[in-house]
Amino acid sequence: MATGTMLPSLKTCLAAAVVACTAVAQAATVTYNFDVGWVVANPDGAFERPTIGINGQWPIPAITANVGDRVVVNVKNNLQNQTTSLHFHGIYQNGTANMDGATGVSQCPIPPGATFTYDFKVNQPGTYWYHSHEGGQYPDGLRGPLIIHDPDSPYKGKYDEEIVLTLSDWYHDQMPGLLNFFISYANPTGAEPVPNAALMNDTQNLTVSVEPGKTYMFRIVNMAAFAAQYLWFEEHTMRIVEVDGIYTEEADADMIYLTAAQRYSVLITTKNDTSKNYAFVGSMDQDLFDTVPDGLNPNVTGWLQYDKDAELPEPATVDEFDPFDDFTLVPTDGEELYDKVDYSAFFNDITYIRPKVPTVFTALSSGTSATNPEIYGSNTNAFILEKNQVVEIVLNNYDPGKHPFHLHGHAFQTVVRSADEAGAYVYNETFPQVPMRRDTVMVRPNGNMVLRFRADNPGIWLFHCHIEWHIASGLVATMVEAPEELQKSLKIPQDHLDACARQEIATAGNAAGNTEDFTDLKGENKPPPPIPAGFTAKGIVALVFSVLAAFLGMAVISWYASPPHTSSKGRVQLLTQAPVSQVWRRRNRQENPVGLDGKREKGACLVQRIP
Ligand code: C2O
Repeated sequence: MATGTMLPSLKTCLAAAVVACTAVAQAATVTYNFDVGWVVANPDGAFERPTIGINGQWPIPAITANVGDRVVVNVKNNLQNQTTSLHFHGIYQNGTANMDGATGVSQCPIPPGATFTYDFKVNQPGTYWYHSHEGGQYPDGLRGPLIIHDPDSPYKGKYDEEIVLTLSDWYHDQMPGLLNFFISYANPTGAEPVPNAALMNDTQNLTVSVEPGKTYMFRIVNMAAFAAQYLWFEEHTMRIVEVDGIYTEEADADMIYLTAAQRYSVLITTKNDTSKNYAFVGSMDQDLFDTVPDGLNPNVTGWLQYDKDAELPEPATVDEFDPFDDFTLVPTDGEELYDKVDYSAFFNDITYIRPKVPTVFTALSSGTSATNPEIYGSNTNAFILEKNQVVEIVLNNYDPGKHPFHLHGHAFQTVVRSADEAGAYVYNETFPQVPMRRDTVMVRPNGNMVLRFRADNPGIWLFHCHIEWHIASGLVATMVEAPEELQKSLKIPQDHLDACARQEIATAGNAAGNTEDFTDLKGENKPPPPIPAGFTAKGIVALVFSVLAAFLGMAVISWYASPPHTSSKGRVQLLTQAPVSQVWRRRNRQENPVGLDGKREKGACLVQRIP
């Protein structure tokens, strides 16, 4: 299914003469033809269910390429009953913002029967993954690893072999039904559906055969819908060398924690003795679950198999989970803290609703209005970023849950991350000189974090919680980065326009599809009517969505980002409709979480410069 039109491939190159070859190594085009359709799978051995496969297979194949390659993925949607898309998680898509795969943002959904091509260059090494970015779909199977090999890796020569290890959670029910329940009057507490099982490489009881005295690089991806996992290898130390595509200085870890969407590469050197096999265990973080169903096995076990005739020992129980703190990692490139922040602005309690026109088309069709955040809709949380601004996002988590936040098109510098229960961020921290970077960062329960990035990638990039239930609930914001540059450079291919045309989705106009007056949002997708009594805060968050069959926001997290964003009428209206949100809003305002002597005006987004 993968046809590589390899010019002098690096592999052959390295086998020949390394020195001579580096100079002539040329980028290849790697083409995948993916027919997306239903298959039947039973990865936990407990339940057979319809699953979304590719070319009649599930697990779906890994996409692999070398740094500098062009990747072409031809998608045919054969699902018949569902629209789809593919997002290449962590790939910056610099210059190809319309290949990012986020429906309603960078493209229209791919309708049943249609073909659609993704075509982009990968100039970044590392461990990534690809997944559907349409309507909560990927947990039904449409998610797989994406690996970009690097002939110039700082760890070249330090390991003998690579092994891809995926983690995930697994549901016996399909997402459309689960989402209907999650976002319904029947779920007044907003409890997220709990997975039925944990998987490794889309199975359980995985064996990985290893040879003694060798070093393996495990590329580990958590492709879960919801559950983070603790991971440890019994009697073997992991040496972390990469997180989310960023090489890090080697750091020893006995246990790591991967939220949904995070990746690690770790080196593991095997023992010189082949008499025993060793378990490795992934364990879902049950703190995330509102209730733990009877009989749930949160663990999935694999074995480093030194001897295929030796037994596969039961894993030992662990007394406590004490994972490595990724905040302490240091990128090998030494990129220093961005110490001059151009903008910092608040927004609070805002809900995301998908616009009628995918945001990229609004940006491209709006001329000089493209820098007016209003045109992107009252509920897309649109922020306009200027080229090369340093943007700071302060995220105060007013929720007792852990949330992994992801930004498309960038990796963040993680400047501050508080402990559990630290409350809102107060500006009094010493920042790391060379901060850890990654594209998905977890904020702790009732804690806070500060993230920075440089707006050096024109495009429309979502910022969202990567728990699929919370995306469905609209814990999402839209970064509209350098829209005027996009207008100059971005070309939309015909098949992308055709996908919209087949569904009568406009490819011009503001969020409401108005091409005459971009500030007139009449007819845009709207917030929901008032919520009935008896719902908990979290329940409201889950519920409001169903009313719209679209995306809505989660009020328990407040955050702020750049730049000025003064139009918040839509938001205020929403808040006054949702009684509990008002409580949160009041609380947020009192606590003044930023500590920048910020005065928050009623219903307005406050803009502040960091001194
Ligand atoms: Cu894994 Cu919005 O992405």
